[in-house]
Amino acid sequence: MSSPELTELERLRLTPGHIERVVVLTGAGISAESGIPTFRAVDGYWSRYRPEDLATPEAFAQNPQVVWEWYLARRHTIAQADPNAGHYALVEMDKLLSGQFTLITQNVDGLHQRAGSHDLFELHGNIFINRCSLCSRRFSDEVLNFQELPPVCPSCRGAIRPDVVWFGENLNISTVEDAFTRAREATLFLSIGTSSVVHPAATLPIVAAENGAFLIEVNPELTPISEGADLSLRAPASRVLPRITEMIRTILTSTASKKLS
Ligand code: APR
Repeated sequence: MSSPELTELERLRLTPGHIERVVVLTGAGISAESGIPTFRAVDGYWSRYRPEDLATPEAFAQNPQVVWEWYLARRHTIAQADPNAGHYALVEMDKLLSGQFTLITQNVDGLHQRAGSHDLFELHGNIFINRCSLCSRRFSDEVLNFQELPPVCPSCRGAIRPDVVWFGENLNISTVEDAFTRAREATLFLSIGTSSVVHPAATLPIVAAENGAFLIEVNPELTPISEGADLSLRAPASRVLPRITEMIRTILTSTASKKLS
């Protein structure tokens, strides 16, 4: 992290009021340092493939085998990857703030869970979950035959698909509503590693800021929310998040010691 970013971060003075309700939104950028390609970078997924050829219901209807081959390749890449310091910092932040912390992710890679996060909102689903496109039942890999793609639903013989949200599909309405409720109530909103161009996720930081949250963005590149953020750090998540977690720990420790004195 360059010194200007470090100075900006060190100048940050969070207060006990800021950390009453912390909400974090993550995007593909938090997993980039784990070796998982993002979507819109120059070498990202959408620079090599057309989303409409792979991540739409029409693509799956037309060419389920090709869509599955792409998702199985992504599962393999993700399975080789490990969570990084950014993921672990959020696990620690959750432990420190227990009950005052919400994690919302656009990522489908499950790395937050592998780092130890739980009770998070997966807005776009999870690549490792299999769902029948007809009866919507979910199945573990073990009971499905991946020799033939798409796998066939053991219950209704429908085509099994990855349980992710494709372009043109609706997100789970209750998940979205809960996420927006948390964003509206946030006192501190961290937007981490997202290009902030896909809605409704990209609306969350805006709603949080409109309702009084202190908005921090962490992204090496500028995004549509950079200008409106209270602090926008051109820096990697793995360097900034551990620092923010330590700031929160210091606030909680000093608040606790004041109570004792
Ligand atoms: N730390 C923080 N941010 C990073 C890092 C890093 N180490 N490396 C890259 N980034 C930033 C990039 O600058 C970029 O702005 O992460 C962002 C990733 O943006 P996208 O590739 O657009 O991914 P995301 O914002 O998660 O996409 C949202 O679009 O394709 C759909 O469903 C897919 O969930 C995805 C959604």
